Amino acid sequence: MIELMDVTKSYNGTVKAVDNLTLTVRGGEIFGFLGPNGAGKTTTIKMITGIIQPDKGTIRINGKDISQSPLEAKKQFGYVPDSPDLFLRLKGLEYLNFMADMYDVPRELRKERIEALARRFDMLHALSDPIL
Ligand SMILES: Nc1ncnc2c1ncn2[C@@H]1O[C@H](COP(=O)(O)OP(=O)(O)OP(=O)(O)O)[C@@H](O)[C@H]1O
Ligand SMILES: [Mg+2]
Repeated sequence: MIELMDVTKSYNGTVKAVDNLTLTVRGGEIFGFLGPNGAGKTTTIKMITGIIQPDKGTIRINGKDISQSPLEAKKQFGYVPDSPDLFLRLKGLEYLNFMADMYDVPRELRKERIEALARRFDMLHALSDPIL
């Protein structure tokens, strides 16, 4: 569950990019942001993911406050960026192991999950290929 309470963010003390936003996204819910350019969508995602801090308000992910317990909160979600340039040199399996390290997934469990998911997405043959 993602909870935003009275979240406000201004840039340079002038442009109010997000103004007193309160919203809840429940577990299992699929939630999309729609809005015109400059509405504050990217700013909101950056605050939820802890890239920037709100001026005011609270953000909790599965009950963990992103400002107060950033590492705990960040372990609650996955994030797929627009431009994954950093990872293109890695092989599929190296990338998955890197992510498993980030999220503290134990060795045995990660092996099991990687295999099960690679099988489900019919990508077992691609695990040892470079991403690009
Ligand atoms: N780094 C920044 N410095 C100053 N102002 C910014 C910065 N980032 C965004 N803004 C301003 O904050 C407001 C919200 O921008 P934001 O990028 O969050 O909107 P958006 O909904 O993601 O827009 P788009 O649909 O164009 O991606 C806009 O007025 C924008 O010009
Ligand atoms: Mg945007």
